[in-house]
Formats: sequence, C-alpha cells, structure tokens
Amino acid sequence: MDAGPFAPLPFQASTPWLAPLAGWSDLPFRLLCRELGAAVCCTEMISAKGFVYNSPGTHELLNTLPEDNPLVLQLFGAEAPFMAEAALRLKERGFTWFDCNMGCSVPKVTRTGAGAALCRDVDNALRVAEALIGAAGPGRAGFKLRLGWDAAAAGTWKTLARELEARGAGWLTLHPRTARQGFTGQADWQALRELKTLVRIPVVASGDLLSAEDGLRCLAETGADTVMYARGALRDPAIFTSHARLLQGLAPSRPDAATLKARILRHAELARTYSSDRAALLKMRTIVPRYVHDLPGSRALRLAVIACRNWDDFSRALDSCL
Ligand SMILES: Cc1cc2nc3c(=O)[nH]c(=O)nc-3n(C[C@H](O)[C@H](O)[C@H](O)COP(=O)(O)O)c2cc1C
Repeated sequence: MDAGPFAPLPFQASTPWLAPLAGWSDLPFRLLCRELGAAVCCTEMISAKGFVYNSPGTHELLNTLPEDNPLVLQLFGAEAPFMAEAALRLKERGFTWFDCNMGCSVPKVTRTGAGAALCRDVDNALRVAEALIGAAGPGRAGFKLRLGWDAAAAGTWKTLARELEARGAGWLTLHPRTARQGFTGQADWQALRELKTLVRIPVVASGDLLSAEDGLRCLAETGADTVMYARGALRDPAIFTSHARLLQGLAPSRPDAATLKARILRHAELARTYSSDRAALLKMRTIVPRYVHDLPGSRALRLAVIACRNWDDFSRALDSCL
C-alpha cells in the first residue's frame, strides 16, 4: 500500500479507534477521545451526495484540525458517481482516509439504498466501492459492514469481504449484527473471527464493546487487528485510557467525581471552542447524564444538567453536585 506522504493507519491491539457516531463523533468529542488515548477517530457519517450538493449542515461535519489525525472520514451513499466525486473533492481538501458506511440501518438512510441497504444489492455495493477506491486510492478506503440485511441473508458479509478485498479495500470493519437486528440481540463475534481468516487486510472489530474489558476480550477471542469503541466511548471516553492500562496489566481507569468534573469541563471547553455556543450547551446537556450515569447519587446532577438553559446554570449544576 502506498502511504504517500501520510503515515499509515495503525491497526494494532494497542491502537483502539473511535467509531463513527452520527451526532457525536464531531471535532470536540474526537479531540477529547484523542487526549484520552484514541489512536484513530472516525467522523460522523457524511452524505456523499449532500456534500457534492453542499447541503445545509454537511460543511460543519468536515471540521477538523491538524492534531485531529489520523482521521477517517466516513461517507454514505448509494450512487457510485457521487461517491467518487465526493472523495475526489475531499481528497483535494486534504482528507486522506475514507470509510464507506455499509452498516447503517436507520430507515432515513436505507430508504435511499445507502448504508446497510447496500448489503441487499451487492452489485451496487461493489460499484459504490470501486468508485470510492478509484477516487481515494488503493488501500485508502475501508468499508464498515453488518452481517447482512436479515437472518436469511446473514452471510452477505462474506461475499462483500472477499470482493472488497479484491478491489483494493484498505481494511474492513464488521459490526456483526444484521441490519434488521439494529442493536438488539448480541453481536456475533464468531463472525469477526471468521472474517479474520477470510481476508488478509486488517479487520476492525465493532459490536458490544461497552468497556475496555470487552475490547480486550474481543481482540483475544476474534484475532481482530484492533477494536472500535462506539457506545462505550459515549458512556466513558476514558475507555481508551482503560484499554491502554489493561494492556499494561493495570486496573482500568475508574474516575472519581473530581476527575469526571474535569473531563466534563474539558469537553465543554472543546465544544464551545469548535461549535456554536448553543450547539455546545445542547451537546453537554445530553452527554453529561451518560458520563455520570454510574456515579453514585448522580440523579440530581442529571436532572439539573438536562434542565440548564445557559452556561451559568451548567456550572452551578456541576459545582453543586460534583
Ligand atoms: C449514536 C450512534 C451513532 C452511530 N453512528 C454511526 C455512523 O455514523 N456510522 C456508522 O458506520 N456506524 C454508526 N454507529 C454504529 C457504531 O459505529 C458501532 O458500529 C455500533 O454502535 C456497535 O458498536 P457498540 O455495540 O460497541 O456500540 C452509531 C452508533 C450509535 C450508538
């Protein structure tokens, strides 16, 4: 793989990734996760067509900084020409690594034939993939898969994996549930183990990695090259620190109230610096209840934060409860 002037992406047990998280893996959250040990971060999914047509809101999803690196930009779309056009223009703007969303099961996305709906039309999925790889360059694009559309087609990932590797995919990520399953049931890590034996390109594991212990267990059980934290990072962005600590044989990080408060204030600072004040406050009102969920006696704080109307209310809520 020609890494050109860019460092290759790391795919090791010691280099966990932050997953693409629509509404969440924005620049402030990515910077926070990087400070806490995320080795690679993914953007939220971005519509290839929306980007080409300059749709409202698309531009903000591209916010980045030199220290927000390595960064994987995730695109979704069902039309190969838009995928190619978007990737070419984004490359001109300095983006290096791309991921194609073949796993999103939200009807708004699948109705357009994109996301997990691509599993239902493998021919089109491969046209979209060829377009992306052709524009991004061999090895520069990954693909994020589900098992298939539903239980009857739960083997689609095997066809896609082989064909995508043959076409020059740089890596594959598998969230081993069907699209129909959404987030129900259990992620089938056995499929991740099989994927590792099926392809030679790196495999990134996703699915039910809610703690660093889950991450390490998944690596050991599946042989995946690395893991991608999603809901686990939304609950506790220090999951990356815990991951590193566990690899060193240390106990995971268990933040006390003071550490949590400092982390919340840091996230708020990043959010206020890199997004509008209003958007930052709304984000913090939603994320803080997740961060403090496991803290004994956090109910009062959760209620106070959800109700706050400005940053003074926010500070008062933190000061009175943490
Ligand atoms: C709030 C939320 C937003 C997500 N957004 C995306 C997305 O934009 N693109 C994508 O490929 N997957 C997305 N996912 C799926 C995750 O990247 C991940 O594959 C999934 O949550 C399984 O991992 P987990 O069980 O460890 O959370 C999202 C998941 C959640 C919970």
